[in-house]
Amino acid sequence: MTETSETGGTTGESRTNDEVWIVGATGRVGRGVTARLAARGLKVVPVGRSRERMLAAGAEAGLPGDAKVVVADSAERIADEIVRKRPRVVVNTMGAFAATAPVLARACMPGGHYVDQANDVVAVEGLLALHEEAVRAGSTLVTGAGFGVLATEAVVAKLCEGRPTPHRVRVDAVASVAVEAGALGAALAASVVDVLTTGGRRYENGRLMTSRLGADPQQLTFPDGESAKSAGVSSGELVAAHAVSGAPFVTATSALVPTAPLIRALLPLFGRLLSVPALRRLAVDRLGRVPVKAAPRPREHSWGHAVVEWGDGTRHEGWLRAADGMDFTADVTATVTELLARGVGRPGAWTPAAALGADLATAAGGTFILD
Ligand SMILES: NC(=O)c1ccc[n+]([C@@H]2O[C@H](COP(=O)([O-])OP(=O)(O)OC[C@H]3O[C@@H](n4cnc5c(N)ncnc54)[C@H](OP(=O)(O)O)[C@@H]3O)[C@@H](O)[C@H]2O)c1
Repeated sequence: MTETSETGGTTGESRTNDEVWIVGATGRVGRGVTARLAARGLKVVPVGRSRERMLAAGAEAGLPGDAKVVVADSAERIADEIVRKRPRVVVNTMGAFAATAPVLARACMPGGHYVDQANDVVAVEGLLALHEEAVRAGSTLVTGAGFGVLATEAVVAKLCEGRPTPHRVRVDAVASVAVEAGALGAALAASVVDVLTTGGRRYENGRLMTSRLGADPQQLTFPDGESAKSAGVSSGELVAAHAVSGAPFVTATSALVPTAPLIRALLPLFGRLLSVPALRRLAVDRLGRVPVKAAPRPREHSWGHAVVEWGDGTRHEGWLRAADGMDFTADVTATVTELLARGVGRPGAWTPAAALGADLATAAGGTFILD
């Protein structure tokens, strides 16, 4: 493994070298981010548990054959390496963000920056709770740097610009994603199981309340004429929509939640069963190994949607249109990472639009359609 030298610079930056570490560089998001950042000339270092798989994935992503990799097989061991080597930015795509994000983000401080694609309430709130620590450390921590969070948060931010605090906000996320052949993967399997065990959430009178997973089913018709169903979910989008708008009443739906009446009726039971730790481990393991066939994305576009209502009855609605949801996620993470590597970004812990503005969504390839 090549040693790196420290570079001079200002305050926190002086402690870091010029490397961007991609934790989980063999995974779907990690490969996409590695390829984008390598193409933009950043010094990218894959981090993960298999040197061979990382070298193979790195070569495919355009890294040189003798590229440095860091071999470590748990968030704690990766954190030790971060503390020793001081990369400028760490991108966490290893999943299980509620557990891994605080460990890796803390290791980046002081001075180093951190990015992940967390999209569940516990992980997003947990990372945002490091805000004061990050401000003191001169580090920028960004959670939810993907379709999930940015595609809806950015629309809410645009609709609220220059207007008073709204009364009610609803956000809907409908990702359209091409499926790669292979196993579903443990990271995605864990996210699916977490959605089922967490159940639903909503903000009422400014307080985060438990609600039913699959509540508020919606039939959405998109600006391009296509349509899809979505239903209530506990997600990072909910937390971000509340934070960016300040609205006391906020709900979030996703097309990933089944809307068929029978399945919706069974969701609480699945959730209770999967809360048993042994059953959860079994479900994540089995689901992660499920072979999936390659399939094109079901709709041409992915859509983020927000409806914002004010106390006087005013109502505004807007959309963010993107292409493949996974590609958009890799574009968002790569764009955020490049900005943080260049020193753009205020110290603190943020969701993407809060850190870098709603136009980040267009920089990552999205298009706003606002009324
Ligand atoms: N916010 C959003 O819109 C959004 C969009 C897409 C994905 N996501 C989330 O992002 C995460 C990544 O998704 P993905 O599809 O890229 O998952 P994936 O293909 O399963 O990749 C996971 C990566 O993490 C690595 N990894 C797992 N456990 C590890 C450990 N203990 N030590 C070191 N490395 C480890 C894997 O390495 P190996 O090669 O060793 O297995 C792999 O490189 C998931 O949690 C997913 O839910 C969010």
